[in-house]
Order: sequence, then structure tokens, then C-alpha cells
Amino acid sequence: MSLTSLSASYLGLSLQSPIIVGSCPMTLQPESVRQLSLAGAGAIVLPSLFEEQIVRHRHQRGENVSHPESSVEDGSYEQMADHYNGGLLGYLAAITTHKRTADVPIIASLNGRAGGHWLDFAVELQRAGADAIELMLEPDFIEPSLGGERIEQKLVTGVTSVCNQVSIPVSVKLSQYHTNLANLARQLTAAGAAGIVGFAHATTWEISTERIQTSIQWSLTHAGYIHPTIDGMIRLRAGEPAISLAASGGICSAEDVCRTVIAGADVAMVTSEIYRAGPDAVETILTGLRNFLDLHHFDSFAELVNSRPMPMRCFRRSRLDSMTQSQHFEDPIPDVPHHTGDRWGHLS
Ligand SMILES: Cc1cc2nc3c(=O)[nH]c(=O)nc-3n(C[C@H](O)[C@H](O)[C@H](O)COP(=O)(O)O)c2cc1C
Repeated sequence: MSLTSLSASYLGLSLQSPIIVGSCPMTLQPESVRQLSLAGAGAIVLPSLFEEQIVRHRHQRGENVSHPESSVEDGSYEQMADHYNGGLLGYLAAITTHKRTADVPIIASLNGRAGGHWLDFAVELQRAGADAIELMLEPDFIEPSLGGERIEQKLVTGVTSVCNQVSIPVSVKLSQYHTNLANLARQLTAAGAAGIVGFAHATTWEISTERIQTSIQWSLTHAGYIHPTIDGMIRLRAGEPAISLAASGGICSAEDVCRTVIAGADVAMVTSEIYRAGPDAVETILTGLRNFLDLHHFDSFAELVNSRPMPMRCFRRSRLDSMTQSQHFEDPIPDVPHHTGDRWGHLS
């Protein structure tokens, strides 16, 4: 068996491998975490605790929750707030249990709209033993009065507030819809973030033509979904050469990991593939990664990270090159004889 070192570094933490189990409910179960860690996972991200859960908890304790947090306290979240992901107390207990039973860094996750006192809960996560905190802050994207710059400002303010309160590293899970990821990476670094996860999984709109309704669906990603993730790594790395970057979205194989690392990632997060194949997914990816490193004569994973190309400085030039070269591709339009119609086969 190859002895090539797969150890990796993320948010200043030393990991046994660059494969991190991305945020999902599975990682709340101690037995799953133990098995994933034995399979070689480098770290585990817990599912998100939601702003709504924290706000409700504060209400129940009689704390004064001011606007805009109070707007989520309309009663409709009660069931979810108390029980989802074990509720606040269950979540904190899970961190403590994981730290006792599994030998990997545990990253807690907070999900909400942006700033506010609910973010103070980060301190509790640190106290419970979390090694890092992943923030998924989504200011209201469909609020017409919020311009792009203001959305980023709200995001950065939320990140600053958490970074000022905890001493463990903080990462930010971004949606892929920000205008200039390179610039945002800079702003987040200045705010104190140690890392960025690109990207938060874009949920899909389901439109029912029978019931004339829209709903949001949450589904597993699949092989081939990785292109936006690679694009994000290149843009984020162009903005911040030194920040920790985690690729997330469509990573199913060792080759996917290598592609995102060459594009700029330091580690790869995997969720859907683990739902499909269990801890075996981690082992299969790590075996493939070792084979790749051996084949290309890298002594370690770190050597691959250090030898990737610099972020693309000539972004536009690269785009033009690839577009102008596309004239060499075969024309996919069938060559329909003209006497049967036009070039696309329409009858004249
Ligand atoms: C069942 C399920 C639950 C998830 N729950 C969360 C969550 O609570 N918080 C979060 O930030 N991401 C959550 N995610 C998103 C994943 O962390 C990840 O970003 C996304 O699935 C893309 O990675 P993948 O292609 O490897 O699945 C969830 C994903 C799945 C499949």
C-alpha cells in the first residue's frame, strides 16, 4: 500500500486527509461520525443550526429580541425550532460527544440571514468544543431594496461579529450568486474569516403545473455537477492567495478532488456521494487520490497543493482563447439537403 501522506491543512487545522464531510444531518449521529473518521475523513461539518431556532430559544428564556430577529418569531417555526437537529441543547451535546468519540476536527454550522444577536450563539459552540464554525449567511436575496453591495456588507458585518467573539477559526459558506467572488474573498479575509466554502448547494425551484404552486426542493447532487465549483475556486483563489478554500458541490471521485485542488481548493467537501455510498465513498476517494499522487510522483498531497498554477491572471485572454478555438469543433447542426427544406430541416 502507498505511504504517500494525505494530510492537509484547513482553517489552520491539521487534517488526516483533505476530504471533509460537508454539512448534513448524518453528521449529527455519533456512530456515523466515528465510521467516517475511521474511513479517513479529515473533518466533519455538522448540519446547520438555524437563526430561527436560536431566536426562539432566546424568546423562551425571556430575552429581549429586537427587530429584525423578532420577525421570525411568528409561531410557525415552533416545531422546527425545538427539535430540528436536536434543538440547541441537543446540538451542543452532540459536539461534546463527537469530541469524545471521534478523532477529527468538528466544525459547527450556523445558518441565518445576516447580522443580529443570534450570532452570539457562536460562543456557545466554541464552549461546547467545536474546532471551527462555518457560517452560511444569506441576506434576503429577493428583497428589492437590497443592492448587491449592501448584501455583501450585511454578510461581512455578520462575519465580523462572529470573528470578534470567538477564538476558533471561522469559515464562510457562500452562495455562487455573488457578483465578484475575488473581491468578496478579500472582504471576508479582512473581516477575520479563516476560510471560504464554495458553494452552498443551490436548492431548486419545483413548479407544479397541476397545483399551480412553487416549492423549493433539496436534492442530492450528482457526478458532472462540479463545473460551477471549479469556476468558484478559480475566482476565490484569484482574490485571496492565502485563505483556506474548501470546494463543495458535485465532488464524487478522486479526479473531482484533484480538479478542484488544481483550481485553487485546499480541501474538498463531500456530502451527496457519502449519502449514496456511505463511509466507503471516503475510502474510495482517498485510494484514488493516493494513486493519482503516486502516478504523478508527488510525495504528498501538500506537494500537489503547493505546485498548482497561480490564479489565472489573464482571465479574459483564457476565455477568448477557448472561444476562438471552438471554431475547430465539429458543427453539430446536421447537414440537411437543401431540397428537403432549410439547413435545420424545416420543410419549405
Ligand atoms: C441531506 C442534506 C442536508 C444538508 N444540510 C445542510 C445544512 O444543514 N447546512 C448546510 O450548510 N448545507 C447543507 N447541505 C449542503 C451540503 O453541505 C453541500 O453543500 C451540498 O450537498 C453540496 O455538496 P455535495 O455535492 O457533495 O452534496 C445538505 C445537503 C444534503 C444532501
